[in-house]
This record gives sequence, C-alpha cells and structure tokens, in this order.
Amino acid sequence: MILNGTLDLAADPGGIAKAADFLRQGLLVAFATETVYGLGGDARNSDAVAGIYHAKGRPSFNPLIAHVASVEAAQRFVEWSDRAEALAAAFWPGPLTLVLPLRANHSISPLVTAGLDTLAVRVPAHGTARALLTAFDGPVAAPSANPSGQISPTTAAHVRAGLDGRIAAILDDGPCGVGLESTIVGLAGEPALLRPGGVALEQIETVLDAQLHLHQASDMLTAPGQLQSHYAPDAPVRLNAGTPQGDEVLLGFGQVSCDLNLSEDGNLTEAAANLFSALHRVNSMGRPIAVSPIPDHGLGAAINDRLRRAAAPRDS
Ligand code: TXA
Ligand code: MG
Repeated sequence: MILNGTLDLAADPGGIAKAADFLRQGLLVAFATETVYGLGGDARNSDAVAGIYHAKGRPSFNPLIAHVASVEAAQRFVEWSDRAEALAAAFWPGPLTLVLPLRANHSISPLVTAGLDTLAVRVPAHGTARALLTAFDGPVAAPSANPSGQISPTTAAHVRAGLDGRIAAILDDGPCGVGLESTIVGLAGEPALLRPGGVALEQIETVLDAQLHLHQASDMLTAPGQLQSHYAPDAPVRLNAGTPQGDEVLLGFGQVSCDLNLSEDGNLTEAAANLFSALHRVNSMGRPIAVSPIPDHGLGAAINDRLRRAAAPRDS
C-alpha cells in the first residue's frame, strides 16, 4: 500500500483507537513504550510482519518480540513454567522479555520467530502501549522503531527521522522513561541472559536464585539478533575516554567536563534514560564521539553493551 506520509497520533483515546484500527488492517504503527519506541504490526499477520522487516531493512533471520497485554495473553502463545511465573510476577508489566517454547496451536506468524521454535514475549508497562494492546486485543510484533543497525528511538521525532513515509502512524507519547531496550532472558533451556537491558541482571538472578548463563556472541541460534555492530552513529565512537582528542565530542558521565553529560550525578538510571537521545544528538554534530567510562554494574552493564556495539567495526 502507498502511504500518504506517516500520521502523528496523539496518545489519547481517539489516537489509540485509530492506531488499533491500523494494526487490524495489517498496517504498521510505531508506539511509545517505557523502553524505546516499538514498530508494531499484527504478529498473526505475515504480510504485516514482512512489512516490519522491510520498513526497517532488518535481516529476516533476526526474530521479533511479541507484545501482549497480560500474562494470560502470553500463556496463549508459549509454554509457561515456574521460572517464567517468578520473573513475570517480579517484573511484568515492565522492561523484561522472556524467550519460551512456542505452544503447539499458536497463531503467531513464523516470520516473527524467524522459524525458531521459541517466542520472545513481553508485557510492557507504559500506559499507552498497554492501552494499544488492550484496544487491539492481540499480539503485536514490535522491534525498536529504527532502521536496522542504527540508534534506537526514544522520542517520536527519532522515529520520524528514521522511518517517515514507511509506516502508517506514530503514536506519540513523549520520551521513553527507561530509555534502554528490555532485558531478554532465555527460558527454553537453562536460564540465559540473551541481552542486558532495562532490568538489571543482578535483580533477575535474585528472583531466580540462580546465576544466568551469559550469552556467547558466537551462538547465533539462541540470539540471532545480537549482531556486533548496532546502535551505530555515523561517526566513529571511542570508549572509556578520559579527555577528548582532536575534534572529538565528549559524552560524559559524572563529574567531568564534557559537551553532553549522561548524568552529572553519576546516576545509571538517568544515564540509561538519556543514552539514545544523547547519541542521536552527538551524531547530528558530525564529529567523532568519545565516551567517558561508565561503571559496569546494574543498568551500566546494558549501557556498556549498547556503547560497545555503537563502537564496533561496521560491516560496510
Ligand atoms: O524493549 C524492547 O525490547 C523493545 C520494545 C519495542 O519492546 N523491542 C526491541 O526489539 O528491542 P528488537 O527487535 O530491537 O530486539 C529484539 C531482540 C533481537 O535481538 C532478537 O534477536 C531477539 O530479541 N529475539 C527475538 N525473538 C527471539 C527468540 N525467539 N530467541 C532469541 N532471541 C530472540
Ligand atoms: Mg533494536
């Protein structure tokens, strides 16, 4: 379908009803969540899901997360377990994604899982995302609403800059509170951390009373989306920088003199919320980027994961 530009929808009952209507028609709608903006399509409709991969330029071997309104809705699609119950009770709704075995009679398009026999599911906490899922009353496949490999979007303006004209609408509800994608925990086998994110690893290990296996980057089958270069600004990125060199713009953390500070107080929650917006901003300056050291505990582990990928050698 040819789109007449991408509509901006307000996060009010009218906008939410319109967005749900678009999803029912198999169209794509970007929407605010507490982590990052998602690019949603009906997870049961293969044409819609194919449209998501196309709009993002995403490799079709990289599966998507199905977003649902409740634990009960998730249980319709995946084999539930005690560990899933414990993590859902602790962190849903919220920035946690669980990868579980698909149930026998599910209705999820095979394009969502890229042919795997597991499904990633998440119940988001954001009021507008929940209202959309409730109004649509079905599973919504939603990767982050950015062109594949680029910086994730935490505002509607970021979405428009990357996907304008390729999607039906953007359900705008301001900046995302958490600012980092969900933590992904694999529960199809032994519990494994597939991606650090908005819930700290330490909190998950406390709830499970066990250490998680840490995902190996070479293990493409368990987390095919964990490609090395990702979140990539146009300019090179140098990590653990003391002072900027040459023309570099310094993205700081804590009490440092810099061009843009992720958190002057050295607060990791605040730094996570600011990270992608800051990367979008320094990227638009067109200068090489240096980043201060960031502690590697709590949300710092997820921040450093995103920064390492932003700094990784590019494929092309
Ligand atoms: O916070 C989030 O998770 C955001 C918002 C929109 O919910 N979504 C998001 O989606 O970050 P995306 O597509 O950018 O990242 C999803 C990750 C990918 O790395 C993908 O490989 C992994 O989830 N994934 C999806 N299904 C999987 C599965 N069955 N097994 C292992 N990894 C899976
Ligand atoms: Mg993404």
